[in-house]
Amino acid sequence: MPEVPTSWEPDIARITVIGAGTMGAQIAMQAALCGFQTDLIDIKEEQLGQAQSSLAKLMDRDVEKGRRSQQTVDAAWQRLHLSTDRASAVSRTDFVIEAAVEDLPVKKQLFAELDELAPVHAILSTNSSNIVSSRIAEATARPDRVCNMHFFNPALIMKCVEVVPHTGTSEETLEKTAALAEALGKDPVRLRKEVPGFVANRLLNAIRKEALSLYNQGVAGFEDIDTAARTALRHPMGPFELMDLVGIDVAYLIRMAEYEQTGDPESLPDPAIRELYEAGRYGRKSGRGWYTYES
Ligand SMILES: NC(=O)c1ccc[n+]([C@@H]2O[C@H](COP(=O)([O-])OP(=O)(O)OC[C@H]3O[C@@H](n4cnc5c(N)ncnc54)[C@H](O)[C@@H]3O)[C@@H](O)[C@H]2O)c1
Repeated sequence: MPEVPTSWEPDIARITVIGAGTMGAQIAMQAALCGFQTDLIDIKEEQLGQAQSSLAKLMDRDVEKGRRSQQTVDAAWQRLHLSTDRASAVSRTDFVIEAAVEDLPVKKQLFAELDELAPVHAILSTNSSNIVSSRIAEATARPDRVCNMHFFNPALIMKCVEVVPHTGTSEETLEKTAALAEALGKDPVRLRKEVPGFVANRLLNAIRKEALSLYNQGVAGFEDIDTAARTALRHPMGPFELMDLVGIDVAYLIRMAEYEQTGDPESLPDPAIRELYEAGRYGRKSGRGWYTYES
């Protein structure tokens, strides 16, 4: 695990992560582990408490298993500041990673406020999976310093970070964002232009779409399609198992969000996904999705 990277030019020293949910908490911990002074901000005090206790469990487990030293973890906690005081954190930040709720009006409002508060040089990035930054940049007076910086769940572990410009994002912003991803121990994937779903989720969607098509045509059962993906393609799990893990509700809502952006009926959720969603079969989290789970 990288500490402060030796090649790092320290013009980004302070990072602010907005939203202490599933993604924001782990992104902020990763930043602190990698040597950055990090503010993790949420509007809800109890969310910060939850983030702190779930991160503490993860860090304790990593220390127990010898994946990190206690000293590294202690130093990271010293650098991580959890707070609801957005204004003071953002006023001294060099780089914002917004990981708040996936809602365009909320993000637009948030970016307008961040733009008012942040120093002129600061880059404002969004971790959104579905909202491209051109839709948010217009709310700021610094569209050249706005882009998507898209992490994957769980952010402490997954190496991929997609760096996505809109047409007005400057080269310097992209370079700094990709360099920051590397300094966070990640492998940046640089997109040259915006496209809904970016790269990784589009690859995933293509496999999922083909798997659903084979299933809907009655070519094979979903269990056998999963077996083929695992045993022939060496995927760690099949597309149906993965849908259950991520959540059928998430798969459904992502397609609906894409449909809202594209207006293309091709973007709509597959009827089999809609059926599971409407039946409340959300996958592992609800005990039943494609598969049935014991607990
Ligand atoms: N969950 C994933 O697998 C995943 C993966 C990649 C990207 N994303 C993206 O990351 C973002 C966050 O997703 P998540 O799953 O962590 O969501 P989440 O619901 O777990 O967390 C969102 C957090 O944002 C907080 N919040 C809402 N409005 C806020 C505001 N104005 N200021 C500060 N905090 C605010 C909420 O209190 C909540 O704690 C979304 O844009 C999503 O598209 C999610």
